[in-house]
Amino acid sequence: MEKALLKPALQVRDIWVEYTLSSTSLSTGKKIYALRGISFDVLEREIFGIVGASGSGKSTLLKVIMGFVSPSVGSIEVDGINILKVNRETRKNILKKIGYVSQDPLAAVNPRFKVRDIVTEPLKAAGVPKREITKMLPTLIESVGLPLDVLDLLPHELSLGMLQRVVIARAIAIKPRVLLLDEPTSALDSVTQSHVIALLKELKDFFGYASILVSHDLKVVSYLADRLAILMAGLILEEGIALNVLNNPLHPYTQELVDSIKLKEVREVFAVDPSACPFYAHCYLRLEEKCRKIPPLIELDSKRRIRCWLYS
Ligand SMILES: Nc1ncnc2c1ncn2[C@@H]1O[C@H](COP(=O)(O)OP(=O)(O)O)[C@@H](O)[C@H]1O
Ligand code: SF4
Ligand SMILES: [Mg+2]
Repeated sequence: MEKALLKPALQVRDIWVEYTLSSTSLSTGKKIYALRGISFDVLEREIFGIVGASGSGKSTLLKVIMGFVSPSVGSIEVDGINILKVNRETRKNILKKIGYVSQDPLAAVNPRFKVRDIVTEPLKAAGVPKREITKMLPTLIESVGLPLDVLDLLPHELSLGMLQRVVIARAIAIKPRVLLLDEPTSALDSVTQSHVIALLKELKDFFGYASILVSHDLKVVSYLADRLAILMAGLILEEGIALNVLNNPLHPYTQELVDSIKLKEVREVFAVDPSACPFYAHCYLRLEEKCRKIPPLIELDSKRRIRCWLYS
């Protein structure tokens, strides 16, 4: 895909999110930065992958785009409109064009709704006439590889894999401009996981929406993403064309992640000092003094960004 020919469908600029720990936590009142100046573009028709360990800020980022979490600074532009600055009505209308698939399909649906009601929920909310919804429903269900007789089943009568397909059908029903996928396969067994990955690829090729796929699993992202970013402790550490990053990872953390695909294990990494490079404690190349400060995210060329003092 040639970057210059495609327009950004979504532009995320300098997003900072700060959480104050609640009264039930041991560190009551303490603030943590879940996102620290996140910026990237998602181009039309591309899948932008975001890979990071648990706690790196992946879900927070998608929640900011969906309006579930408010950033302290930053902008989110959909087709050039900053959705954090427009009035509620305009924002609601723009968000109708964003599909969202969360990690846990069971938590994402009303257990008392039949499949036909779950899938048609956003269409009804968008005011699509009933006759048209009835006409669309079989195509939608078939496009996610489900038989039509699931339409009258309840969530508990489906396997997790089937239910995730229902949630995906609901997300694509609105013909989204942007589809957000939050670890869409992590609750599934490995066979179902590969079926859902194949389905997501087919749907994207067919519908051509822009998409963000977040996952702790670089392997899942590597199957689907055109470009990807590596996230740690709320900072992007590397970003580039997926194939280039996978074939030639530059950041020491990305190198470890790429190796972990071969080793089939990913080590969780926790930032110790918020003012240091988040990979400091684990990096075998660290420069003792210099790396105690966060390096800037620099552009190596128009296709690759990296945050590491070895390149600055
Ligand atoms: N509602 C919240 N209140 C306080 N801290 C939160 C909240 N949600 C997430 N966090 C913290 O923010 C950081 C990023 O979390 P999250 O976005 O869920 O990461 P990921 O999806 O990558 O696992 C973590 O340290 C997490 O504990
Ligand atoms: S900035 Fe320093 S500690 Fe961080 S990844 Fe680069 S070399 Fe390692
Ligand atoms: Mg998450």
